[in-house]
Amino acid sequence: MNILLIGSGGREHALAWKMAQSPLVDVVHCAPGNPGMDDIGPCFDVPVDDVDGLVKLALQIEPDLIVIGPEAPLALGLSDILRARGFDVFGPSQQAAQLEASKAFSKARMVKYGVPTAAYGEFTDAAPAKEFLRSMTAPYVLKADGLAAGKGVVIAATLEEADAEIDEMLSGKFGSASATLVIEEFMHGEEASVFVITDGEGAIYLPAAQDHKRVGDGDTGPNTGGMGAYAPAPVVSKDIMARVKREIAEPMLKGMAKDGMPYQGVLYIGIMVTPEGPKVVEFNARFGDPECQVLMKGLQGDIVPAILIAATGGLKGNEKDLERLLELDRFQPSATVVLAAKGYPGSYEKGTPIKGVKEAGAIDGVTVFHAGTDVAADGVLLAKGGRVLNVTASGKTLREAVDRAYAGVDAIDWPEGFCRRDIGWRALGQS
Ligand code: AMP
Ligand code: GLY
Repeated sequence: MNILLIGSGGREHALAWKMAQSPLVDVVHCAPGNPGMDDIGPCFDVPVDDVDGLVKLALQIEPDLIVIGPEAPLALGLSDILRARGFDVFGPSQQAAQLEASKAFSKARMVKYGVPTAAYGEFTDAAPAKEFLRSMTAPYVLKADGLAAGKGVVIAATLEEADAEIDEMLSGKFGSASATLVIEEFMHGEEASVFVITDGEGAIYLPAAQDHKRVGDGDTGPNTGGMGAYAPAPVVSKDIMARVKREIAEPMLKGMAKDGMPYQGVLYIGIMVTPEGPKVVEFNARFGDPECQVLMKGLQGDIVPAILIAATGGLKGNEKDLERLLELDRFQPSATVVLAAKGYPGSYEKGTPIKGVKEAGAIDGVTVFHAGTDVAADGVLLAKGGRVLNVTASGKTLREAVDRAYAGVDAIDWPEGFCRRDIGWRALGQS
């Protein structure tokens, strides 16, 4: 079987690496891919938001399965266009992907299907937004409705700050993404991510993961796309997982299907584990990055059958078989450490050389996924993004996985890079 995988981040490198190990797979084609993915299959230089270019590429390659990694092409409706051309696609329709692309859409669905989430209001004008704010208590959670590259959420400590933020957002701080605003109740608790592979009816639940969004050790400093992750996350106990299935995933999937927009692909459920139980922080229409890297590293079985059946339908009733193929019961504790360019998530230098990636990957249990790398004409690996490498490891215990990942980090010579040194701290502190 031939696969076309769309994307170029660490998430996609991990997916390509995992899918290429399946006995079902001959070639994983990537668009646009990255230097790490280049070692796995042919990469084609078509950007993820070039819908026409990607359709042309698919018609040329004629893959048996297309896997869409990031949210941008999903929000542009790439799945629908490819499905209309007869391709089997892993990734939700444009309508279903609105669970990520529009916070107002997502909140309205949760309310309709009775899914626990923070109380909220939706606004396009400042006066009613500020009036609503005064019915809430601090801290105030303000969210741009649309996709804002992970920057569209502001948590304001005071009314003055929140008022000013409302004015800024509604006057175009995030362009059209913040023309509509969601104001939410602040939820207290610990966050985790649950990933559900689904064809819209049946569902397979992967082990829960936890991301580290803040840039600094001890969860300090500004938010980032994610500085590291680990799985399984013990905060999602058996009981919490059962509640996520029963109270969140099942009513969402059933409701979306009933309303004529079945959700196919992977549903990322960002939860807050509150004293009252799990509540939804957000949905995403794709795997998390860097959560995907630890899931792919920790899974000992084959993920391709689950992805394929989610794309083609017929998952319901086959969950047990697919879980056996995934070898979910043998999942190995895993961790990933993000190496980022100094200055990230602010401005940073590009084009600095990185050495030792091969040496890091040779350490027992370690795999280095590329996120923002480039190769110079002389073959030297260069940094080209904010988040550059994901040093990922599995082990018999999370402690072993984390130690291996940091051994990998220490084998890499990149003076212009940095990482957090406390990935996994919540789980390690508990054990
Ligand atoms: P989102 O993009 O909606 O996931 O929000 C980004 C981050 O803001 C989340 O990962 C949480 O850490 C935080 N956050 C968002 N909504 C809330 C909320 N209602 N209560 C507390 N924290 C929140
Ligand atoms: N790691 C957070 C995300 O992928 O949205």
